[in-house]
Amino acid sequence: MLTVEDRVAAWELGSTAFGYRDRPMGEDWSPVKIGWISWGVFDADGRLLAKAVDLEQGQWFGGRVVPSCGLAGVAVAAESRNRGLGRIVLTRLFAEVRDRGAAIVSLFPTTPFPYRALGCEEVGALVHLSVQASALAAVRTPKSVTLRQATEADIPFVHDIYRTIASAGSGMMERSGPRFNDTPAELIADYHGITLAIGPEGAIEGYASWDRGSGYDETGSVTVYDLMGLTPDATAALVSMLGGWASVAPNVVLRLPPGDPALLQFSSIGATVHKRQPWMLRLVNAPAAVAARGWSPLLSGGVDLDLIDAVCPWNAGPHRLVLDGGDGVLEPGGSGAVRITERGLAQLYAGAADPATLRRAGMLTGGEPRDDDFLRTAFAGPVPALLDYF
Ligand SMILES: CC(C)(COP(=O)(O)OP(=O)(O)OC[C@H]1O[C@@H](n2cnc3c(N)ncnc32)[C@H](O)[C@@H]1OP(=O)(O)O)[C@@H](O)C(=O)NCCC(=O)NCCS
Repeated sequence: MLTVEDRVAAWELGSTAFGYRDRPMGEDWSPVKIGWISWGVFDADGRLLAKAVDLEQGQWFGGRVVPSCGLAGVAVAAESRNRGLGRIVLTRLFAEVRDRGAAIVSLFPTTPFPYRALGCEEVGALVHLSVQASALAAVRTPKSVTLRQATEADIPFVHDIYRTIASAGSGMMERSGPRFNDTPAELIADYHGITLAIGPEGAIEGYASWDRGSGYDETGSVTVYDLMGLTPDATAALVSMLGGWASVAPNVVLRLPPGDPALLQFSSIGATVHKRQPWMLRLVNAPAAVAARGWSPLLSGGVDLDLIDAVCPWNAGPHRLVLDGGDGVLEPGGSGAVRITERGLAQLYAGAADPATLRRAGMLTGGEPRDDDFLRTAFAGPVPALLDYF
């Protein structure tokens, strides 16, 4: 584990790898702080050659928060790459985060290959969609909804709306804990606007957080970080507000979960992908990951799995997945009839791929058609979404 003594070496390794060497290191910057632990590999002379950061966070699956490690800041010194140091630091990090109680690891990779070699797989992508403001202006403003800027007193309601939507999704971040401890005043200061949609009864039914880019010619833009509507009218009012920028900011960049109801209100013909950031998942404690999430209370039954996992060997071997009354258990034992790789299990867990796809990808073998039916039904859920880049 890195300590505050390693701060200069860690900053130099990270800033060189990710291209911010010109930025001065903050006086209070440290590779270790609450909710943020760094791991490193040193050479015999004590030089830091590789590092990786564990961010303590949680992600929603099946209506429950699964304790998670956000993997970030993975860097190996230029002269030491391709010699197995990335593997060493990440293998150790997986064991350490499991010991501190994380069940899963997620990351936004700059390259998938080293992570695939360690059992992670892409399960979703954070997409910034670029839309003509004029397309949003075509959405009519509902008369029942009024808009106003958020004040500090409104921020708890804003968090509630986000949590209502995140808790119904797969993979969305739980925005509390050390990484999300901005005060209401700080949160309001983070954006040019947090617009609230107020319903006919006076309740906050939606919000949009946004920044206005510079200029008012054809390059003018508004970037929307969250657009969260609980009702069709709240969503329409917020979309229509964004359309109102058309004369001075003709481009709107929207960060939306896949299939969000806002996408059902305007024409996305001509919309382009402004930025796409895939994210990957790995189960570092498979029984804990199964126990922590929610499952359909309508499905009871089990399947015999054989988990392949060389990097986290405590996960490996025959296990029986049993679901009952909305809870899941993964216990050692059973026939191990259905063999599944770490990457296959990550895809299944997130609901990113079904058993038939995993068989074609070579990540699932053995078992009976009934096993595939059970797994497809058990892991079916919303398309995985993660809006918070780290
Ligand atoms: C990405 C990085 C951390 C990998 O570290 P590394 O020490 O070079 O990787 P390793 O030698 O431990 O390789 C681990 C595995 O990944 C594979 N791998 C590594 N880089 C790869 C690449 N570019 N393409 C395909 N496979 C790759 C290796 O073959 C190895 O697999 P194996 O053990 O099954 O043979 C390192 O190259 C780096 O610091 N790059 C610049 C910063 C960066 O991109 N960081 C990642 C941020 S998400």
